[in-house]
Order: sequence, then structure tokens, then C-alpha cells
Amino acid sequence: MKRPIVVANWKMQLGLKEGELLMDDILNRLEKIKKIAEKVDIIFCPPFFALESVSKKLKGSFSLLNRKNQMTNLFLGAQDCFWEHKGAFTGEISPDQLKELGCQYVIIGHSERRQNLGETDEMVHHKIKTVLESELVPILCVGETFEERQNGAKDYVIINQVTRALEGNVLKADQEIIIAYEPIWVIGSGQVVTQEEAQYTNQVIQQRMIDFYPLPLIKNNIRLLYGGGIDSTNVGQFIEKDIIDGILVGNASLKAEEFVKIIETIGLKSTQ
Ligand code: PGA
Repeated sequence: MKRPIVVANWKMQLGLKEGELLMDDILNRLEKIKKIAEKVDIIFCPPFFALESVSKKLKGSFSLLNRKNQMTNLFLGAQDCFWEHKGAFTGEISPDQLKELGCQYVIIGHSERRQNLGETDEMVHHKIKTVLESELVPILCVGETFEERQNGAKDYVIINQVTRALEGNVLKADQEIIIAYEPIWVIGSGQVVTQEEAQYTNQVIQQRMIDFYPLPLIKNNIRLLYGGGIDSTNVGQFIEKDIIDGILVGNASLKAEEFVKIIETIGLKSTQ
């Protein structure tokens, strides 16, 4: 198994104070299971306006008590960015600006953006390009609707999204891409697909990437996640097999106890 990842996607759910309280609660709980939690890369993706306050929490975590004990596996991520580095784009934020705020990761192409804001595969492609140019790590989200699934088009949809997002986007030897398979009809529903299906879909994604990137890059620089309906009771089954390197969590990342249990389950598995 590659180094496992848990991504917390807070979406537009919390105010500034709520976010700070949640971070305090999570960091306190993580400290108690530090040895296990350190096995997992944990990426917090708050909304733009809360990036700075979460960044301060991450920087301050544990260091006030004992600088040497600071966890180095906690990262800041954004939920989206624009596809240009700079310019007259009112209301947008560039990867370079996110980097200045301390971000290392950016979620790109989340289904809620594709569905509610008309984000196209072409936009996703350009965003990935700019994010890589800015030396940040894109977390590309792909997934099918219930209708596409019913029509037997799931694999085609996924392959198409991965192809259009990545084909032609150069990945350097020291760069990483994360891809999250998130069936759209499952997100926020409290349901999950079977572990076999998540595993199979990640195999399909991996297979497609062989056409773009050399094998060593796929093996070492690309991590594949599952997302949609994950909580502390079902996370275990998804990390059974090596093809799933981690989890993208929405609702359950807003509850400290639940979220830290997810990290603990994954951390324990990776020590086995
Ligand atoms: P969920 O959301 O865990 O609430 O299903 C996942 C996501 O939207 O990334």
C-alpha cells in the first residue's frame, strides 16, 4: 500500500468559528492517537475564506506544547481554483495564490462543481495543468450519475473524464496526482458502493493512465482514492485492498470524533 491519504472536504458547511472549533477538536483527538495518525496523510480542505485560519491551526498544532512533536502529515488543500495563474478574473483564485496561503493540494472537478456550476472536462483539464505548473498536487474527482450507471455507461464515463483531464498534462518525476473515484449518486446519501466496485473502478482508472504516464510514475506518483458516503463504520472495507490508497470524506469530516476514527482505522490498517 502507498502512504494512505484522508481528504476532508468541508464544502460550504461551516462558518469561521465553527471551523476553528472543529480543528481544535480534531487536533486534540489526533494527538491522542499520534503514532497511528502519523501513518496517514491528512488533507484539510476548508472553503477559501477559512484557509488562513485552518493554516494557522495546522502550523500551531502541537508546536506550542513541544515543537519536536509537531505532526508533519497534516496538509492544507483548497476545494477548487481557476485555470490561469493571474489576470482579470473577478471572484476567482489562482493556484499560485492558494500556494501563498499554504495550500499544497487542490480538489479539481468535484461533481458538485460539474453539476451546479457547469464545470466541463475542458476546464478541469486546464485547472490540472495550472495546478501542476504551480507545483501543487491536484485531487481530481471523477464519477458517474445514477442514470449513466443504469445505462451501463459507467466505465465509459470514468475513462472519458480521466482521459480529458489528464491527456497532455505533463507529470514530472517529483510531482503527484491524486484521483478520487466518487459515484455522484452516492455522495451525501449515506450509501456506499461495494468495496469490489470501488476497487474495480480504480483499476479501470489505473489502466487508462498507462496510456499517458510511464509505469514507474503511475506506481509511485499517483494515488487513487474512493469517496462518497464514507463514515467510521464502513471505511474499513475500502482500504482492504491495495488499489485504494485512501478516502475522500465529506459529511463525516465535519464531526471530529467520526473523522478521527476514520483516520485511526486507516492508520491501523497500514501498520498491519
Ligand atoms: P460525502 O461526500 O462523504 O458526504 O458523501 C464526499 C464528497 O463529496 O467528496
